[in-house]
Amino acid sequence: MRMTVSVIKADVGSIGGHTKPSTAMLDSVRSEVARAIDTGLLIDGFVCHTGDDIAILMTHTQGEGSREVHQFAWNSFLKATSIAKAAGLYGAGQDLLVDAPSGNIRGAGPGVAELTFEHSLSGVRPAESFMVFAADKCGPGAYNLPLYLAFADPMYCAGLMLPQMIKGFSFHIIDMDNTAGDSVIELDAPEEGYRIAALLRDNERFGIDRIVSRTHGEPAASVSAQRLHSIAGKYTGKDDPVAILRNQGIFPAPEEIVSPFAKAHFVGGDARGSHVMPLMPVPINTAVTGLYCLPIVSCVGFSIDREGRFSESHTDFFDNPAWDEVRRSAQRKAIEMRSQGWSGAAMLPYSELEYGGFRDTVGGLMKRFKMRDERRPQAAE
Ligand code: 13P
Ligand code: MG
Ligand code: MG
Repeated sequence: MRMTVSVIKADVGSIGGHTKPSTAMLDSVRSEVARAIDTGLLIDGFVCHTGDDIAILMTHTQGEGSREVHQFAWNSFLKATSIAKAAGLYGAGQDLLVDAPSGNIRGAGPGVAELTFEHSLSGVRPAESFMVFAADKCGPGAYNLPLYLAFADPMYCAGLMLPQMIKGFSFHIIDMDNTAGDSVIELDAPEEGYRIAALLRDNERFGIDRIVSRTHGEPAASVSAQRLHSIAGKYTGKDDPVAILRNQGIFPAPEEIVSPFAKAHFVGGDARGSHVMPLMPVPINTAVTGLYCLPIVSCVGFSIDREGRFSESHTDFFDNPAWDEVRRSAQRKAIEMRSQGWSGAAMLPYSELEYGGFRDTVGGLMKRFKMRDERRPQAAE
């Protein structure tokens, strides 16, 4: 069977500020998912939240960009928005940027990551397991470094030295500044590893969109790389990307995929989407209450049976004491960074500042700059 795994996430309202959705909102989305499974639109589904973002994970046979699946997710978010509005929650409907998108909702606000593959539990995939990452208070390129290390650096993924991975992976990288359409370059690791790094170092402009096995042509990863700012033309909330990664066998193992997150690397995002702070791995369904709201990332794993149904329970990868040390390190890094307040590297550069208001403040001051008399440029003779 040709099966698609889709994860669609949106922030449509949260309690006490931008912390977490309400139980009533989550219940509503869960009952919509249960109904869609009953009607046969979805094979299976799972709903969780990371900070204020609700993620709907789905398996189905409708393909990527399916009108029905996307509209289903949009309508579920609309219902959750009504609940948020009625309860006076913060940012109700925040990520639903257009009025009534027709069909595919990529580019309409919610983050979308989808992978389609032949699902038969045979050949190179005798078992199908995958993991879903969701990050909150974070820019779109938050996965650039960890996924590069997991899929292109044997220091992090020893599996890359094995025959089924030694040819490497193809990285599809999207230029998120180009809003006219999806502008994508395909670069092969390991040969073009330095070129891949030259793009991925810029987390705000270039993002991994997809990773594909060069040996088997099988898709390994899909990321919701988009910039809400570029879509809306103004700051409406941070991008908070999601990603789906298949693991084991012809792909890196879960431990190889999660190990780069031990860096708690600095990402753009955090308060007002305008700061630079470390990314802290947390269990799913964690509220954002940390120092200066601290960017967080969750990771949940599933297996799928022959019919495309999820295993009876999931694995919450970062819900383990092994990650406590990383969380402490993230917290230490955060306190260090926050100790320099607004200065230099602690905030995003002017061109990337998300809050329009910061630019308005600087723009207003620009008008008050005056040339000093003694060095005033001479009028052209
Ligand atoms: P969200 O995108 O998660 O709503 O965060 C926005 C923000 O500005 C946090 O300060
Ligand atoms: Mg929010
Ligand atoms: Mg959010």
